[in-house]
Amino acid sequence: MKVEGNHFRSIWFDEESKAVNIIDQRVLPHEFKIISLDTLKDFEIAIKHMAVRGAPLIGATAAFGMACQMRRDPSDECINISWERLHRTRPTAINLKWALDRCRTELLKTQEKTRAEISMELAKKIANEDVEINRNIGIHGLNIIQEIARRKSSSEPVRLLTHCNAGWLATVDWGTATSPMFQAHENGVPIHVWVDETRPRNQGALTSWELQNYGISHNYITDNAGGHLMQHGLVDMIIVGTDRTTSCGDVCNKIGTYLKALAAKDNGVPFYVALPSPTIDWTVRNGVEEIPIEERVETEVSWIHGLDKSGRVTKVKVTPDGSLGFNPAFDVTPAKLVTGLITERGVCDASESGLRALFPDLEKVSL
Ligand code: MRU
Repeated sequence: MKVEGNHFRSIWFDEESKAVNIIDQRVLPHEFKIISLDTLKDFEIAIKHMAVRGAPLIGATAAFGMACQMRRDPSDECINISWERLHRTRPTAINLKWALDRCRTELLKTQEKTRAEISMELAKKIANEDVEINRNIGIHGLNIIQEIARRKSSSEPVRLLTHCNAGWLATVDWGTATSPMFQAHENGVPIHVWVDETRPRNQGALTSWELQNYGISHNYITDNAGGHLMQHGLVDMIIVGTDRTTSCGDVCNKIGTYLKALAAKDNGVPFYVALPSPTIDWTVRNGVEEIPIEERVETEVSWIHGLDKSGRVTKVKVTPDGSLGFNPAFDVTPAKLVTGLITERGVCDASESGLRALFPDLEKVSL
């Protein structure tokens, strides 16, 4: 997608320098900084400390991490150690395991001397596939937005609400939840986006930055505002992303998503989840019981960062000394609260039968 008119992906292999580059999301939206990753440690830190984040991007980054490591040591042992170390970085998004499993399986079938090249090609393939998946999610999501637009008067925008950043920064390109928004905008369908700030890390600021770059009308709102807006008929549709969706359609996403789904149910607002197929975990059924929820450091809650009056990025503490925060990073929205899953193959019910009908081939491969 575009940053001040220039096209970027969130991760790319620079053919000239032979480096893997990322946009450092720890300093966005205040600073646009590109950094190169090379060693396994670089990749571990980038994922763990969220220089890269968002389920699909975490998966693609891990694949590039494996590829860079193969340039140093293409042994079976190194494949297994790299898998372990990268897998340990973040526990909830299943795309990480999906990408690492795919790399390990492919590499163990090949000779050591070819592994550096094959793994880099595979990482690029995973990244390119992600772009195509998200573009298709956008096309299917656009149909839903257009349907809502047809029911409104022509000048009125379709009002969407999203939580966290399931935007292009969270994927390789397009985003999942934002892809229908970008495509609506490109197709001249007027939209307005309510962007949840998404405490504690305020990923909503990333979404706002993405929308701002395209001139898409939006407001950054507190996490608590959504219910009120829904009660007053100001939200036509919610679209969120997912870090792991079970085979029965339970959706694990950024903390606070569940509360939005509850409020949506109470107010009859359609609640859609943009779901790329690598985010389906076919091995789990009950999201609340089976998905590991990442617990991050309490300082993410008790401190916030932003620009001070002089324009410098700074951190300030919001809690009194001695008050400790608690920081579960994800929650699970049960399938019964989800109106539909927008996948790259079309829209389905959040149910076992819905997912099976769209992905009969994938389920067999993964189990
Ligand atoms: O902790 P984060 O910022 O990695 O969490 C990201 C989310 O929860 C996204 O909504 C999810 O990964 C979907 S990204 C297309």
